[in-house]
Amino acid sequence: MASRLMATKRIPDLIESAKGEKGGLRRALGPVHLTTFGIGAIIGAGIFVLTGQAAALYAGPAIVLSFILCGIGSGFAGLCYAEFASLIPIAGSAYTYAYATLGEIFAWIIGWALVFEYSLGAATVASGWTGYFASLLADFHIHIPPQFRAVPGTKLIFFHGEWQKASNVLPAIHKAGLNPAALPHATGIFNLVALLVILAITAILVIGVKESANLNSTFVIIKISVLLVFIGLTAIFVASHPHLAAANWHPFLPPNAGHFGQFGWSGVLRGASLIFFAYIGFDAVSTMAQEAKEPQKDMPIGIIGSLVISTVFYIIVAGLLTAVVPYTTLDVADPVAVGVAATGFHWGSILVNLGAVAGIGSVMLVMLLGQSRIFFTMSQDRLLPEWAGTLHPRFRTPWISTVVVGIPVAFAAAFLPINKLADLVNIGTLSAFIIVCVGVMVLRRKQPDLERPFRTPWVPAVPILGAIIFIALMAGLPALTWYVFLSWGGLGLIFYFSYGRKHSLLNTALRK
Ligand code: ALA
Repeated sequence: MASRLMATKRIPDLIESAKGEKGGLRRALGPVHLTTFGIGAIIGAGIFVLTGQAAALYAGPAIVLSFILCGIGSGFAGLCYAEFASLIPIAGSAYTYAYATLGEIFAWIIGWALVFEYSLGAATVASGWTGYFASLLADFHIHIPPQFRAVPGTKLIFFHGEWQKASNVLPAIHKAGLNPAALPHATGIFNLVALLVILAITAILVIGVKESANLNSTFVIIKISVLLVFIGLTAIFVASHPHLAAANWHPFLPPNAGHFGQFGWSGVLRGASLIFFAYIGFDAVSTMAQEAKEPQKDMPIGIIGSLVISTVFYIIVAGLLTAVVPYTTLDVADPVAVGVAATGFHWGSILVNLGAVAGIGSVMLVMLLGQSRIFFTMSQDRLLPEWAGTLHPRFRTPWISTVVVGIPVAFAAAFLPINKLADLVNIGTLSAFIIVCVGVMVLRRKQPDLERPFRTPWVPAVPILGAIIFIALMAGLPALTWYVFLSWGGLGLIFYFSYGRKHSLLNTALRK
């Protein structure tokens, strides 16, 4: 039995099955599309929402170091993903790589963990998107009723010209000497905005990968332009107020406040565990391997290119943000807008709202796309039922998986208080990254002679260092995150033993 659990797929079979279109997914994407997909998935709520919290609560200006640490770790993982994605151009990403190297049970566990990354990721960022979208419309005097942009029961207060969660703003209200009861109140009914946007994205994903790529490209152009404007404005401000910037950066690494993770070096690590969220997404490029025109050549470009571009943006934006405003003021829902406002360019905040709407929009799009491709691949292996792999006769997209993912994610985002679950998304992703790093080493040892169109440099140093960084980041996550994740894993094993193991094509072949 153990041997069947650890059964691996043969790489030549996988490569053969991915060849041509054979009535399968449409091969429509080139290197620019793939890099844009990567940037689409990477730059989003992490930089637009979480950076401020991580700087204010954990690392101070040294959040720049957290970004560098995560960038290095993600770079190592990116190199490992690139080797696999060029070698095994199948839509299943880390799931498929585990299937080819470590065995079916590992593949299943990782496929199951990736639900945390992609589905939970999309649902989590939907709430950040709602906030920015409502602010953007409010800039144009269109007001969405607050009851329809928060999950049921959320207490909202109108403060500083916008509806905000009471739990977030009560301290500021008290500090301002105001009586919260005297301010306008509302209670969330459900987040209609999140529901509609996820359903709309799901519809586009069903219609076609080319259409989805075009929408993603538009979003990416907007968010990159906005970040460039942010960098320009804040750089001018820093150049003209060098003393202020120096004071905000002093101390660069605030001393530890007595607990693990509250500033000091442990704070840099805790900050890194949180903002790791900002890097998630480059791996989604690998879920598009079967839709790439030349995956062997273009997958590494898409994965590494998008990662490098995003990392450079992150480090510059985090450095400038903590230079223009004291890090202590950044624990807000829209830190990037706060940074622009400090430079005195008030139209800048409209721009930031637009950038965040586009940025987080593309993250949702690519995450939902990635999840549907993973289910598609799992179904082709019969670890999930056959219907999950059905392609639309005209659009040639895995439309049932797309809908089966999109609808629950839309309802979860609308009704469940999941906006604070970035840590869970991180733990799912980190576990996939570790498996991919280990997988590269295993495959190099088991099948050294395979022709690898892209080779990860300095193996085993790169995968080992990558895995060590990710284990450290996992260790920086709160205990509750671990409990939830392990329980999810347990549920996955029940599913596997009651369905996947019996139906798996590989297992069925081995039984014969
Ligand atoms: N990296 C994505 C974001 O920051 C998940 O929104």
